Amino acid sequence: MISIISSTNRPNSKSDIIATYISDVLSKKEINNQMLSLTALNGMTIHNEMYNKENQASIIVKLQDQFFLDVETFIFIVPEYNGGIPGILKFFIDAISIRKYAETFHNKKVCLIGVSSGRSGCTRGLDYMTNALNYLKMNVFSSKLPISSVHLLTNETEVTDADTKEALNVQIESFLKF
Ligand SMILES: Cc1cc2nc3c(=O)[nH]c(=O)nc-3n(C[C@H](O)[C@H](O)[C@H](O)COP(=O)(O)O)c2cc1C
Repeated sequence: MISIISSTNRPNSKSDIIATYISDVLSKKEINNQMLSLTALNGMTIHNEMYNKENQASIIVKLQDQFFLDVETFIFIVPEYNGGIPGILKFFIDAISIRKYAETFHNKKVCLIGVSSGRSGCTRGLDYMTNALNYLKMNVFSSKLPISSVHLLTNETEVTDADTKEALNVQIESFLKF
């Protein structure tokens, strides 16, 4: 099983489109996968009990159990927000780090893909995520794919640019050998 994490709660995000493309590619290869869009956190109230493992929001517990425990392989699609990662992604990582820490992160494999409307493809965010996930004892695949000007490469629902599809296919193929 591979969990694909679309790392924003922005509705109709380009990250969701890239994540859906990756899910389709994996499914065509008959590789089990599941996609988590952080839009799933919609309506959740932020409260101080997020740091109490006995009393976390039920949605956090449910998503952690389904998408992280007993899953060894992850693909994070990370959009660039203000030169870094979306706050909701750091919030989610902090929340799930409180309960079942080792079972959630240790020695698991991660592929990172950045997305931006600007020119950088979230390279700073990918560097940040590499450091943070390494700190959590995750093994981050050295080859990372920054996708810049994503609005020119997609329409409302799918990836339209052939070169981008090819770059994603190559990224997935090489990550599967990691
Ligand atoms: C709060 C916020 C901050 C953003 N900051 C940046 C930025 O610093 N650089 C950039 O190239 N794009 C920035 N963007 C645009 C995103 O890169 C763009 O929306 C892109 O489609 C990827 O994000 P998405 O998955 O939410 O669609 C920002 C978008 C939002 C909502």
